Amino acid sequence: MRKLLAAVAVTALFAGPAFAEYPERPITVVVPFAAGGPTDTVTRLVAESMSKDLGQQVVVENAGGAGGTLGAGKVAQATPDGYTLLLHHIGMATSASLYRKLAYDPLNAFDYVGLVTDVPMILVAKPTFEPTDLKGVVDYVKANADKVNYANAGIGSASHLCGMLFMSAIKTKLTAVPYKGTGPALTDLMGGQVDVMCDQSTNVTNQIKEKKIKAYGTTTKTRIPALPDVPTGAEAGLPGFEVGIWHGLYAPKGTPKAAIDKLVPALQKALKDPVVVERFASLGTVPSSDADATPAALEAKLKSEIARWKPIIEAAGEYAD
Ligand code: MLT
Repeated sequence: MRKLLAAVAVTALFAGPAFAEYPERPITVVVPFAAGGPTDTVTRLVAESMSKDLGQQVVVENAGGAGGTLGAGKVAQATPDGYTLLLHHIGMATSASLYRKLAYDPLNAFDYVGLVTDVPMILVAKPTFEPTDLKGVVDYVKANADKVNYANAGIGSASHLCGMLFMSAIKTKLTAVPYKGTGPALTDLMGGQVDVMCDQSTNVTNQIKEKKIKAYGTTTKTRIPALPDVPTGAEAGLPGFEVGIWHGLYAPKGTPKAAIDKLVPALQKALKDPVVVERFASLGTVPSSDADATPAALEAKLKSEIARWKPIIEAAGEYAD
């Protein structure tokens, strides 16, 4: 009832002339993972650029935990007034099947602004990891499954999903070490506190180049231009090891269309910002097109991805209560 009254009040506000001034104060975009990780990196670049077009600060707030579902739940409950947004990724779709008790319905708790980018992943390891190629990793992991641990950002994260695909592909289960984001996980990987991880290029590209971690294969059909020496999973002997981590910008359900109508062009402009384009390219990804940076494209993507991953997750048997 409280949310309904808030939505009615906000709608009345936005319907009036006052709305023409939106946004009149800073906008918060929640990142459902710890600072310093790939989702945070993407969001900060886009938020800074959107600020220029909107004329108000777009402030990033990190709310990590439970594979991104805590932060998503926080935004689902926020007042739908156009001043709280969420930048989340494929985890919005996979969590629908992974979690038996989600605090929100991914298909009914949000309004959509648009797709942001689709990021490749790379299987990486600590610098002292012995194998020299992906086949060697698979052999080593199979022979030492009880000793090898892998970092992820919790059930529902992209790193969890990629790890699940890797373990399904090699028919071997490893011990997961969950973090609030792969920013802190990467620190432990570089320090050797954890053995392997599957992470987004937007987090690990520079560390691979600087040889602070080892890279064995990408989840892409063709090599990542920013990492030309890293083979694809298929080239390295693991065909089908493919996943793209699409990211979307959301608002709480009931956010007035007039607010969304200002956010969409601001997002599209940010995704064409030369600074964003260049930084994304240096981190192995590209911004979404105008056609994809729309509410309809994000809604369609979310619906199709929930349907796509449900049987895969059920087959893997990985759930969170
Ligand atoms: C993930 O694994 O979902 C993300 O890489 C986590 C993060 O952005 O820190």
